[in-house]
Amino acid sequence: MPHRTLIRNARVALPGGVARTSVLIEDGIIAGVDAARHARADELVDATGLHLLPGVIDDQVHFRDPGLTHKEDLRTGSRACAAGGVTSFLEMPNTVPQTITVDALAAKLELAARRSVVNYGFYMGATTGNLDELCRAGRTSGVATPGIKIFIGSSTGNMLVDDQECLEAIFAETTLPIAAHCEDEGTVRANRARLTGPLTVHDHSRIRDHKAAITATLRAIDLAERHRHRFHVLHVSTADEVQIIADHNRIIAHHDRIITAEACPHHLFFDTSDYDRLGTLAQMNPSLKTAADRDALWRGLKEGAIQIVATDHAPHTREEKAVPYPGSPSGVPAVEVFLPLMLNEVNRGRCTLEDVAAWMCDRPARIWDIVGKGRIERGYDADLVLVDMEKQQVVRNEDQRCKSGWSPWHGSRLRGWPVRTWVGGRTVFEDERVETEAVGREIMFDRKRGGYWATGD
Ligand code: DOR
Repeated sequence: MPHRTLIRNARVALPGGVARTSVLIEDGIIAGVDAARHARADELVDATGLHLLPGVIDDQVHFRDPGLTHKEDLRTGSRACAAGGVTSFLEMPNTVPQTITVDALAAKLELAARRSVVNYGFYMGATTGNLDELCRAGRTSGVATPGIKIFIGSSTGNMLVDDQECLEAIFAETTLPIAAHCEDEGTVRANRARLTGPLTVHDHSRIRDHKAAITATLRAIDLAERHRHRFHVLHVSTADEVQIIADHNRIIAHHDRIITAEACPHHLFFDTSDYDRLGTLAQMNPSLKTAADRDALWRGLKEGAIQIVATDHAPHTREEKAVPYPGSPSGVPAVEVFLPLMLNEVNRGRCTLEDVAAWMCDRPARIWDIVGKGRIERGYDADLVLVDMEKQQVVRNEDQRCKSGWSPWHGSRLRGWPVRTWVGGRTVFEDERVETEAVGREIMFDRKRGGYWATGD
C-alpha cells in the first residue's frame, strides 16, 4: 500500500504563484496539487495559516567530510539543512582527500548514502593535473556530479588553478558545467605585499579587493564565452560583477546564454562595517565589500542578473576563527538560517515569497539540470518545507545544529521559520526534532536539458 500524506489549506508556492490549495504526497512523490479535500490519506496535515515551499536547493556548501570532520560532517551538515528547510545540497571538493578523481567522487557518494539526512550531490574539483578525471567524470554513468568547481583564486584548501593554459584546457575539453571561485591571485598577492605593519581583519577586504573579484570574473567569463562552456559565477560580491554579468547576458541572445550567477547571504546582509562587530567571524572569501555593493547584489537578484542565492556554508571551529587575522580561516556557516533570513526579508517587504521560491528552489534545479526537484508540481519529488511566516525566533549560537556551533547572525531576531521539512515524502524535521537516519538520496542530473537558459525563465 502506498503511503499518502495530504497537506491541506497551506498557501502553496506553485510555479505560477502562491495559492491556497492542498498537496497530496504518495510514496515520496507529489501525486497531486489541488487534490480533492477529502482524498484518502494515511496522514492529514492541517496547514492553515502556514506556507508550503519546495525544499531549498543549496548549490554551494562545504561539509568537510571526509577529512576535516572536526568542523562539520555529512550527518551534522545535512541535519542542519533539514532544520533549515534545505532538502538538497551540492557540496564542494576541498575536503581531505579532495574530490578530484572519479573514485573520490564515488567514495563521497557512498559516504553520503550512509550519513545524509537530505539529498546530496558533489562537485568534481579541478587541479592543474586532473583534466583526464574531469573528462572521465562527464562520461561515467552511475557517478553523478553537477559539474566542475575551479578555484580561480586560492581559498580554504590547496586547489588553486591559475595557469591560463590549464584553464583553457579545462574549458575546452571538459563537458560538465563549470562553477568558479573568482578572485584574481596576482591581485591578491600584490595587495598583500603593499600592506605593511600588523594586519587586522579589515585588511581582508583590502587584500581581496574589488579588483581581485572583477578581474577573475572577467577572465572566467571570457574563457566560458570563447569555449562556449556553461559557466556559473559563484558568490558574486561586487556591484561591478553584477553589471558585467547583466551586460554580458543582455548582448547575447537568450538561447545562446551560458552564464549564470549567485549571491550568498553574507554578502547580502553584511558589509565591511560589520568587521567592527564580528571580527574574523565576518571573514570569508570573496571578502565583504561595501554597503553599495551589498545593495547592488539585491538589485541584481531582483532584476535577474543574478539568478540564485546559495550559502557557501563554510564552517570553522570557534577556536580556529579566534586565531588573530591573517591566521584565521575564511568562511561562515549558514544552512540553518538561510531560509529564515530570506523569509524575514519577505516579511520586511524586500522580496516576495515567489522570489524566494525562484532564487532558492526552482532556479538552482534548472541551473544544474536537477531531475524532479525545485517545484511543487505533480510528479516532482516530495521535498517540501512548511513555514510559519509569523514565527519569530532569535538566532543563537547555542541552538545551532552545525558542528561549529556559532552563527554570524547570532542575536538576530528573524520572522519566518520552517516548522516541518519533508525529504522524498518523509518528515525529517518537525517540532524542533531532526531525523537521524540517512534518508537522503543521490541527486540526478539531466544533461540533455542544457541548463537554466535552455529551459526558459
Ligand atoms: O570563505 C570561504 N571559505 N570561501 C571559500 O571559497 C572556501 C570556504 C571554505 O572552504 O572554508
